Amino acid sequence: MDNPAASCGYSDGDVDTNRSGNPTLQGLIEERYSRRQTLSGLLAATSAFMGSSLLAACGGDDDSPVGGNTLVVAAGSNGQSAAGKIVTLNGQAGGSAQDITGAWTQVSGPAVTLINAGTSQASFVAPSVSAPTPLVFRFTASAADAGSKSADTTINVDVARLDFQAVPKNLNDIVTVPAGYTASILYRLGDPIQAGVSSYANNGTDANFAGRAGDHHDALYYYGLEATGTGRNDANSSRGLLVMNHENITQAYLHPNGPTGTASGQSRPEAEALKEMEAHGLSVVEISRSSAGSWSYNQSSTLNRRITPITPMAINGPARGNAQLHTLFSSDGTQGRGTINNCANGVTAWGTNLTCEENWAGYFRRPPAADNPRRSAREVAALARYGVTSPTGNYGWATVQPADQSSTLYRRWDAQVDPAAPGPTGDFRNEPNQFGWVVELDPYDPSKAPRKRTALGRMGHEGAWPSNFVAGRRPAFYMGDDSRGEYIYKFVSNTPWAAADAQAADRLALGDKYLDNGTLYVAKFNADGSGAWLPLIFGQGPLTPANAFPFQDQGDVLIHTRLAADALGATRMDRPEWTAVHPQTGEMYITLTNNSQRTAATTDAANPRAYVDPKAPFGDTTRDPQSPIGRTTGNANGHILRLRETGDSSEATTFRWDIYLFGAGADLDPQNVNISSLTPENDFSSPDGLWFARPTNPSGLVKPVLWIETDDGAFTDQTNNQLLAAMPGTTGDGGARTVTNFDGTRTGMQATIVGAAATSATVRRFLTGPKECEITGIDSTPDGRSLFINVQHPGEEGTPAAPTSNWPASQSGPAPGSRPRSATVVITKDDGGVVGL
Ligand code: FEO
Ligand code: CA
Ligand code: CA
Repeated sequence: MDNPAASCGYSDGDVDTNRSGNPTLQGLIEERYSRRQTLSGLLAATSAFMGSSLLAACGGDDDSPVGGNTLVVAAGSNGQSAAGKIVTLNGQAGGSAQDITGAWTQVSGPAVTLINAGTSQASFVAPSVSAPTPLVFRFTASAADAGSKSADTTINVDVARLDFQAVPKNLNDIVTVPAGYTASILYRLGDPIQAGVSSYANNGTDANFAGRAGDHHDALYYYGLEATGTGRNDANSSRGLLVMNHENITQAYLHPNGPTGTASGQSRPEAEALKEMEAHGLSVVEISRSSAGSWSYNQSSTLNRRITPITPMAINGPARGNAQLHTLFSSDGTQGRGTINNCANGVTAWGTNLTCEENWAGYFRRPPAADNPRRSAREVAALARYGVTSPTGNYGWATVQPADQSSTLYRRWDAQVDPAAPGPTGDFRNEPNQFGWVVELDPYDPSKAPRKRTALGRMGHEGAWPSNFVAGRRPAFYMGDDSRGEYIYKFVSNTPWAAADAQAADRLALGDKYLDNGTLYVAKFNADGSGAWLPLIFGQGPLTPANAFPFQDQGDVLIHTRLAADALGATRMDRPEWTAVHPQTGEMYITLTNNSQRTAATTDAANPRAYVDPKAPFGDTTRDPQSPIGRTTGNANGHILRLRETGDSSEATTFRWDIYLFGAGADLDPQNVNISSLTPENDFSSPDGLWFARPTNPSGLVKPVLWIETDDGAFTDQTNNQLLAAMPGTTGDGGARTVTNFDGTRTGMQATIVGAAATSATVRRFLTGPKECEITGIDSTPDGRSLFINVQHPGEEGTPAAPTSNWPASQSGPAPGSRPRSATVVITKDDGGVVGL
């Protein structure tokens, strides 16, 4: 607890525990009046709560008769708190007066909203401050027969800080949160989101996933609604829409005994394939918070919506209509069907969601040996560069023989050239070119088809997080392409931000305005801590028909973004995942999750480590950090890089960078592997999700909290995946460092630039997940008092007969046999404070 400034001792809630030498207020009253004469209907307690702590009563006003009756008032002792904490003010009044009323007002300091101000017990959320700041509050008691009297109390509010007990690493099959917090399950795989859809049996028999939650919950974002449920209200923390991605499926649990029709030469049953398709995509689901504080979703909300790989989409931007997007479904390349493998996200200042197509290539059947001879060398090069080379497609959907033989829902997953087709509009050879985009949707308007924004490039899009929106400046969107050795990009709009657009009615028209025209850049990192954004503009540099991979126009450059970035000499990174933008400084942070193929010979300053991770095989919890025989080599634990744009401008074409944090076990070499000095309370591996708290509450102001989520396989002998809270410094707060690498075969020296070492005050483990899950997707309500996260693919290694996790059923007790389900979890602090502070 915080120490009270006054001389009162600690109280557990009993006001008689005042240890000061002062007489208690109650004593003062009782000395003069009998209890029956003096007690008002007001609370007899005089105290202030800071967070969950209680300060004992002391001080108070002397009683003095007014009109023959007396009124005694006290406002409680002075106290200390910190930004984001709940502070409770307890006023006390007594005397011989009758019908005493009391109320709280604020006298000075940053304005706060007093809850229950018209009573003796008011509370408020301590505001964000940049230095310790006194806030003075006045309790005034009034009575008709005694006038009114007041007393003041001062609460000194300190700057925000991480303030929770770090959760220990563990392998338990539940979500674990710190003491004083509660994790509740909100929205699970299969939960019905349309009226009339049955509850989920969770035994493989359920159908109609177009009316249920999809699988593999990933990025999410909360969009506030008006209290009435109609229309947008960004400030509402009690009712809103959750928009979330359903990246993939755990196929085994979706069917009674796992998938069928998977052997070579067999056809997948249509109903199984349809279910698997519909379990992908996104959910838009309305949620609300009850007056008692619990969250639930509304099954019958008309705003609920599933977007699946079947949902009609428009194609916008420079590649719209490009001949390489023509298909049997869309003969002019302006339309498409659905979105798939949606991973991380982005949001816009005008209220839309950006969902990002990541590992889409594997869904297509295209055996190279059969198909390559039917293609041009250029097409073959492009298909190989994007990995459209699966002989079957991930789930064999192309094998389905549909009841309606005219349906192309399954045939579309066969990307081979049909020799009998008259051209690209007679088959689905170009269908892969319709994926790999950032897709914009309007959560508030289910009637509008999402739009694929081709100006942001085509890749294994992880996310597309925006720069801070500054009036008059062209906004940027930062994007990772998540595969080994891929690049970091940013898109800079051609259109300067106009703040009046934030509340425009036609939100997708704003997307047309800001996202269909602009410049896509790829990052190059220099060893001296500088870096450059290289523009992908047709006709500039190598991006011409004369290039080894000839480029034809800007649409062609965007369809082949990876090949264009290759030609520009961008820096190959250790799997770029989520981006996050510091809400105060505008610095961009990005997770580089790991790279098993980085060697001591191929490190560079921005990807400086190649080492042997000591992880033991599954089931063996021994760990010998000295052993050279490890399971994973390369950059096994990943790192988080950050950059600061020149002039702090989203439009800049140069920047400075450093490595904010290196993942590592706390037991690993502190010189060359555990470079950030992680300890058992904050060690982690494979950072993936990354999100700064919203600047609409104290956790996103002054010293914003950075939330870090892991998707790891190298540290899972020690712990299930996890969520950490951090308070980062700024780019350049560390210094130059030379790392000595040993990748199991070779040694090498690598100079790099590292951020300040982590401490307990700056990085701390907040949550661990159930078995075999990934922690992903994160956002809060605007007030920061409800945090939403997603748990993806618990028990992914199991079978229907032998699930390896029983979560979320296991959250409330043993649930043997229960099939695991991806789910959204809402986390609240038991006293109602801002999560993490
Ligand atoms: Fe879907 Fe790169 O994580
Ligand atoms: Ca991810
Ligand atoms: Ca990942």
